[in-house]
Amino acid sequence: MRPKVLITRKIFEESIAYVAQHCDVETNQRDIPFTPRQLIRRLQGKQGAITLLTDTISDTVLDRCPDLRIVSNVAVGFNNFDFEAATRRGVMLTTTPGVLDDTTADLTWCLILAAARRLTEADNYFRSGKWKGWGLMQFLGHDIHHKTIGICGLGRIGRRVAQRAKGFDMPIIYTGRRRAPEGVERELGAAFVDKRTLLRKSDVVTLHLPLTPETRHYISTKELELMKPTAILVNVSRGPVVDEQALVKALKEGWISGAGLDVYEREPKPAPGLTRLKNVVLAPHIGSASLETRLKMAMMAAENCVAGLLGRRPQNLLNPEVWR
Ligand code: DGY
Repeated sequence: MRPKVLITRKIFEESIAYVAQHCDVETNQRDIPFTPRQLIRRLQGKQGAITLLTDTISDTVLDRCPDLRIVSNVAVGFNNFDFEAATRRGVMLTTTPGVLDDTTADLTWCLILAAARRLTEADNYFRSGKWKGWGLMQFLGHDIHHKTIGICGLGRIGRRVAQRAKGFDMPIIYTGRRRAPEGVERELGAAFVDKRTLLRKSDVVTLHLPLTPETRHYISTKELELMKPTAILVNVSRGPVVDEQALVKALKEGWISGAGLDVYEREPKPAPGLTRLKNVVLAPHIGSASLETRLKMAMMAAENCVAGLLGRRPQNLLNPEVWR
């Protein structure tokens, strides 16, 4: 009997075709996320699921879908999974690490530069026909080159951000739960500091932390108060890492100079007042959204799912304890 797989949202035809070589596939090519009830109904009787980060795989979902053997996320983050419940039930969980690091680092730099140089504000000004000619005092932003960048989380993506910072001749400081190996620090020229020092010294603070109970509201009022009034905050990790309401207040009252956000606390809804601010650049969670990278992610998720269902250990298994 061929295993049955549900693909919950629109993904590339290539990855569907690959899964279909080995499994019976049901897809939701409408690209509208299933409601929790629809998700359970569609998942019942399936052994595999290819999910996006808009699908919540909770203990209830797992309980109601006892045939599930593997859930394969097309994302590196997996805060949409109840990790403990899946592991307890012996369900394999996989993600797509590595392939999106450079692409996400590139988007981080788009946000840093756009926020520091007020690019979206200037673009809107130009399009609205307000520009009447060059002026020395127009759209004065802040330099990025030779300024200090503070990276919170020097993991795979944080390191790619640091590599790019070297090209801008920036002193690099970082903080996080763990210190990077000495060789990595040396190669990047990155100095480990505590969180408070990083916030006080950095001209750019960029967040590359997974969402965990410890990192929820990692940046809130207290942290924003420590930052320089000329500093830029960038978040491409997960929305709840920043207390968005506190950020709106900080941006409005000029505690910091600007921000670049790709992720939000309650996606797709922005915090009240956020979209009215001129000093924030807002992207709709597109950190890994290049054609090349998203295709690689979808293929990787398809391969993880098929491997698990055919009895091969998936390459990117998050919970190896369920592998037997
Ligand atoms: C991820 O992979 O976790 C991103 O948020 C989407 O690419």
